[in-house]
Amino acid sequence: MQGVFITIEGVEGSGKSTQVLRLSERLRHLGLPLVVSKEPGGTALGRELRRLLLERHPSGETWCAEAELLLFYADRAQHLELVIRPALAEGKVVLLDRFEDSTRAYQGASGVAEASLDRLNDLVLRGLKPNLTVMLDMDPEVSLQRVEVRNLSMGAEFAETRFDEAELEFHRRVRNRFLAIAQNHPNRVALIPARDPVDQVEAVIWGRVAPLLRSAGFGVD
Ligand code: TYD
Repeated sequence: MQGVFITIEGVEGSGKSTQVLRLSERLRHLGLPLVVSKEPGGTALGRELRRLLLERHPSGETWCAEAELLLFYADRAQHLELVIRPALAEGKVVLLDRFEDSTRAYQGASGVAEASLDRLNDLVLRGLKPNLTVMLDMDPEVSLQRVEVRNLSMGAEFAETRFDEAELEFHRRVRNRFLAIAQNHPNRVALIPARDPVDQVEAVIWGRVAPLLRSAGFGVD
């Protein structure tokens, strides 16, 4: 028995976390055997890597592009070994908040060559692909504003809540890379406009997930 592998991708502020939560609640409610996880940070050691990757270090030192890439892949290799492959082998539905496409989009936008990503994928993924990737698409101009508002309401320091023009430009490149992935993999990727109301986006996502689950033999009606 082989499970069903679903990933959700998108730029920051695209409503990804909300939709992961809604979809996982729906699947849980239906009683499906489910594993919900995220990258980076889907294992205990991966959470250490997540902290090293995403939190600012007191020294002010930041990762060079290659080191960052390898840490994301270290997290992914551990996640695949301990969580993803075993769950799929047990026939479960695996729902991931971010996976390989995020590396192609973010580290690609930071200048890592496609060929390097292909080599790491050969080593770590060994041909494993999601059955479905839900890609939430939104103009970063809008999505980053959402993040700013959220940060402000959480009382973050003002200096950390504003995205400058260089960051906006980076996120535009990330979005374009996500769009290119969707175009190159039309059978795997469902590109979904994320500016619509949350309920509407949820319904469109379910419209793509339900047939996949049905075809895998899960009762979802
Ligand atoms: P995430 O926890 O999804 O944050 P958010 O909810 O703000 O989108 O992702 C953490 C960050 O890590 C996000 O900025 C994207 C980045 N990331 C990469 O750069 N490469 C990767 O391979 C992954 C999985 C994430």
